[in-house]
Amino acid sequence: MRQDILDFLIHHKDEFISGQQISEQLGISRTAVWKHIRALKQRGYVIESYTKKGYCLREAPELLSEQAVAQGLLTKHIGHHIVYREQVDSTNNVAKKLADDGAPEGTLVIAEEQTGGRGRINRAFLSPFAKGVWFSLILRPNIPPMEVSKMTLLAAVAVARAIRHHGLMDCGIKWPNDILVNGRKMVGILTELNGSAEKVNYIIMGIGVNTSIMADDLPEDMKSIVTSFAREGVRVSRLALLETLLLEIERLYDAVCRQGFSQVLAEWRTLACMLGQEVMVSSIDRTFSGKAVDIDENGNLLVATPEGVEVVLAGDIHVRPV
Ligand code: BTN
Repeated sequence: MRQDILDFLIHHKDEFISGQQISEQLGISRTAVWKHIRALKQRGYVIESYTKKGYCLREAPELLSEQAVAQGLLTKHIGHHIVYREQVDSTNNVAKKLADDGAPEGTLVIAEEQTGGRGRINRAFLSPFAKGVWFSLILRPNIPPMEVSKMTLLAAVAVARAIRHHGLMDCGIKWPNDILVNGRKMVGILTELNGSAEKVNYIIMGIGVNTSIMADDLPEDMKSIVTSFAREGVRVSRLALLETLLLEIERLYDAVCRQGFSQVLAEWRTLACMLGQEVMVSSIDRTFSGKAVDIDENGNLLVATPEGVEVVLAGDIHVRPV
């Protein structure tokens, strides 16, 4: 029914249509019409409404349909097999099932909305309809499982390049997998592995970039720590952003497959926003503080403490005010 209302509004774009007209045309109550219009507005459709005049569709969100994405691809192989859904629980979950069924390297799973978007340590990742680019890639690199954590660093460098390309220069990487813009989180990356101790079967590289999330979309405790292109005052085309993201991932991925991770690690260091700073580290079993000094060749964070240099394999860090 919502699609019928939307089709009706699209057909009459920039015209005012009364609630009565829509309800008669589609055989539903005016209250039901109003509820669907409210849901469409939440999905990013700009619909003007006045008591006497009715509803008028002014703007529809740019959707990332398979056709639209395929037309604009700049890559040689990444994203050439596209699986598009309006709504999924998590693109990583969909990608995993496809990979188990043998989907090819470079398969792109993209959704307008995730109802169960996941972050590290099973945290929820907010992914409302068309307010960000939420996608996962299936990769089958010929690397030892030990090296897989470096794929997250690769993704972070590629995303930082793409964000800068689209106008946000004050963008840095917070170890291990967040991209911050002006100190607030704009991107999350979740890399998941399927394989054995000897061999990688596949990697799911899941990336979420906030494009038009605004303060109203966020729970109170996230308002001051999460940002988006729109919150930073930059209007970005989701399609153009996705195209750049895929291109930058492919460039780095191909370089890694040819000559290893040295280029990624070097560039990661130049983009890191907390090296040289006093940080508080919360890892699985303890919390301590020290100075973040570098990452090692495996992508682990090195933190200098009075007792010596600690190697942090997993955890969260917070910059400590000094
Ligand atoms: C984090 O913040 O810890 C990582 C968040 C990763 C979010 C992306 S959005 C696309 C993909 N699907 C998911 O469920 N998670 C990743």
